[in-house]
Amino acid sequence: MNAAIRIRPFAETDETAVIALWREAFPYDPPHRDPAHDIRRKTAYQPELFFVAELDRAVVGTAMAGYDGQRGWVYLVAVSGDHRRRGIGRALMRHVEDTLSSLGCPKLNLQIRGDNAEVVSFYQSLGYQIEERTSMGKLLITDHTTGDRLTTPETSAATLTELVRMLRKLRVVIDESALLDDDAWDRRVIATKQEIDDLLNRRRFDHP
Ligand SMILES: CC(C)(COP(=O)(O)OP(=O)(O)OC[C@H]1O[C@@H](n2cnc3c(N)ncnc32)[C@H](O)[C@@H]1OP(=O)(O)O)[C@@H](O)C(=O)NCCC(=O)NCCS
Repeated sequence: MNAAIRIRPFAETDETAVIALWREAFPYDPPHRDPAHDIRRKTAYQPELFFVAELDRAVVGTAMAGYDGQRGWVYLVAVSGDHRRRGIGRALMRHVEDTLSSLGCPKLNLQIRGDNAEVVSFYQSLGYQIEERTSMGKLLITDHTTGDRLTTPETSAATLTELVRMLRKLRVVIDESALLDDDAWDRRVIATKQEIDDLLNRRRFDHP
């Protein structure tokens, strides 16, 4: 591995680079997955187990781990496309293993999407084995506006106020629909849709 690679805990200033890296490395992520929220959750809970690999001051890899007292888990192991096959992924995983071992964690688990078979060889090369398990899960929080339980009461109230305002506006648009000609109606609908998109996007990427 390149000696200049440094593995260190995530810092707030890494956020933009980490999100860009994840967007490149996990293009298939479902829409309910919001990287900014993933980061915020982790920095609120065991932040010391969220690592980045740094090369020449640039973030080129990540690994997010957790330990619940029984098992360790690792998520979001990623290396940027330009830097793969240079041992950075291995170094990140070793770092996670060493850190979790030092906490007394007896076993590290991870999940791989069914359509990401290529990565199996990576983990096998590090000594991981495929285990006969059925993986189950249930989504408890969606990161879209209405399901966002991470917001503070103040921001939730602000969102609600904005939503009510938007609904009132929609009602006016519907009421007016009979009075407007086709072009005016189209313009009105497009403008309103844009406002709704702006509102949703703002809620998705805000950091209250
Ligand atoms: C998986 C990933 C993190 C590996 O990072 P990396 O830095 O390229 O891995 P390393 O260079 O440390 O590879 C270590 C060993 O793993 C194996 N390996 C790594 N990538 C492999 C691949 N695509 N195919 C087969 N074997 C691979 C090799 O044995 C390699 O050693 P070698 O290069 O000496 O042959 C990287 O490919 C990636 O970011 N993928 C996209 C994101 C992803 O799917 N993450 C896993 C989610 S579960």
